[in-house]
Amino acid sequence: MTSPLPRLVVLVSGRGSNLQAILDAIATRELDAEIVGVFSDKPNAAGLLRVDESLRWSATPKDFATREHFDAALADAIEASRPDWVVCAGYMKILGDAFVRRFTGKLLNIHPSLLPKYKGLRTHERALEAGDAEHGASVHFVSAELDGGAVIAQAKIPVLAGDTPQTLAARLLPREHALYVEVLKLAVAGRLTERNGIALRDGAPIFSPLSPDVTENPLH
Ligand code: GRF
Repeated sequence: MTSPLPRLVVLVSGRGSNLQAILDAIATRELDAEIVGVFSDKPNAAGLLRVDESLRWSATPKDFATREHFDAALADAIEASRPDWVVCAGYMKILGDAFVRRFTGKLLNIHPSLLPKYKGLRTHERALEAGDAEHGASVHFVSAELDGGAVIAQAKIPVLAGDTPQTLAARLLPREHALYVEVLKLAVAGRLTERNGIALRDGAPIFSPLSPDVTENPLH
């Protein structure tokens, strides 16, 4: 008998190209997992359309009394699909403490900067304004601090003369897709954990907190 596939839930707010990369990796069996739900705070998010209607859940935060009420409804719906991993992929709403606590250790996000640089929005603009020679994306465990959880892996690209936020974003996107799939392969193989704010692969720290500027992709 084959064992059941690891169950992924994906959260999206927009076009869902990272979700598509995950779907493609599953289709080619590069990633041995199944998507058991796609959840959104934007009922018209294009990303939702990438999966069968039966897998879609969305609600509008404004229809709830408070952000916490929305988060609780989202968390209940996610929990009902019994995920092994909850994967934020362009989910633009900040997740509250209570939500994060419910999924601690299995909640991942991709952020388009070389964290700890440029938490929050406008990351491509900020890298250009700072005159950075390199830019990139990070996959990290989600903690209560915005974009502040343990970094698992990063992809780097050079900043080229004449780059604009748009060209940087476009060059980074395919690297994001590959990076997320690599991290998810480790995750579903049970090789990824978090302890005391540090991500561990096979039980060993991936990034040393003593040298936080080590940004090689440690997965290769
Ligand atoms: C990506 O750049 C991701 O890093 C950021 O939002 C964007 C989402 O893109 N968090 P998509 O919806 O996956 O196409």
